[in-house]
Amino acid sequence: MFTRIDHIGVAVADLDDAIALYRDRLGMPLQHRETVEQFGVEAALLGIGESHVELLSPTGPESGVARFLERSGPGLHHVAYQTGDIAVALERARSAGFRLIDEEPRVGIRNSRVAFVHPKSTGGVLTELVQPAEEH
Ligand code: CO
Repeated sequence: MFTRIDHIGVAVADLDDAIALYRDRLGMPLQHRETVEQFGVEAALLGIGESHVELLSPTGPESGVARFLERSGPGLHHVAYQTGDIAVALERARSAGFRLIDEEPRVGIRNSRVAFVHPKSTGGVLTELVQPAEEH
């Protein structure tokens, strides 16, 4: 069902500072930067092998990431597993009894299709299912 870890999501207070840490000090290339309106985040993707670190900073106080930062401070936010078929992965998660945050896939960064599973049902790890957009 899942093919690999697509990315790990890290909540950060300042995106430029976090990019400087990952790019300049850890040596990961900055591959993409985008404001994802419906999630209320500005995000950056840095490459690590075939996977990514996704840095997330809130665009406003209503953002889930803003609430996370308030509650827990900066740090590991979610793990994203890649699938070739988000509809199948979501249906399997549903029938396996997981508590879904997204009943239907949403559009995520780089036009991927994503759905989140509640950490209360995954042993405390906010889990994202992600089907990347077709590459052209
Ligand atoms: Co993510």
